[in-house]
Amino acid sequence: MIAIVAVERGWGIGLDGGLLLRNPLDMRRFKERTMGHPVILGRRTLESFPGGKPLPGRDNLVLSRTLEAAPAGARLFRDVDSLLAAAAADSFVIGGGEVYRQLLPYCDEAQVTYVDAALPADTFFPDLDAHPDWALTEAEGPYETPEGHPFWFRLYRRRERP
Ligand SMILES: NC(=O)c1ccc[n+]([C@@H]2O[C@H](COP(=O)([O-])OP(=O)(O)OC[C@H]3O[C@@H](n4cnc5c(N)ncnc54)[C@H](OP(=O)(O)O)[C@@H]3O)[C@@H](O)[C@H]2O)c1
Repeated sequence: MIAIVAVERGWGIGLDGGLLLRNPLDMRRFKERTMGHPVILGRRTLESFPGGKPLPGRDNLVLSRTLEAAPAGARLFRDVDSLLAAAAADSFVIGGGEVYRQLLPYCDEAQVTYVDAALPADTFFPDLDAHPDWALTEAEGPYETPEGHPFWFRLYRRRERP
């Protein structure tokens, strides 16, 4: 599985239930990369989408213990094990913080949009630069957000296990 995420300098990813900044180029990339693939997300991330609706054109696998039923276009999973049993290898883990933390051990690639700015955040992605299992293998950029923050599309890969 592949994790896909946008982070700021301190690996913050969200604030007050929403994203940290507007980044249309990153949104376009996210759509191109995930379209046609299953996406795995937590209930709070689902609620952050417009109208609380699943992403179109993608099989949405939602983790929740509290939702009574999945909205149209989504499948509901009550725990990580049942989700893993149903998730194809080409699935993208799309957040948020809780879900990334639990599913990163099952990912072998992380596509990280790295925004070089210190932005306030209350939700975080694990710092892959400080993580012995992960290596930065590619970077494309810099590009610029509408507010003028430089950003890169970075690719991290899980190091070969000995
Ligand atoms: N920058 C980015 O790339 C990016 C991407 C995605 C999200 N975000 C941001 O991240 C924030 C949301 O992240 P978050 O950590 O608060 O929430 P989250 O991971 O989106 O969702 C957490 C919810 O998922 C369910 N869940 C988690 N683990 C589960 C398990 N093992 N079994 C069953 N259900 C499980 C629970 O739902 P129930 O409470 O219903 O049981 C839990 O409350 C928002 O600010 C969002 O904008 C940022």
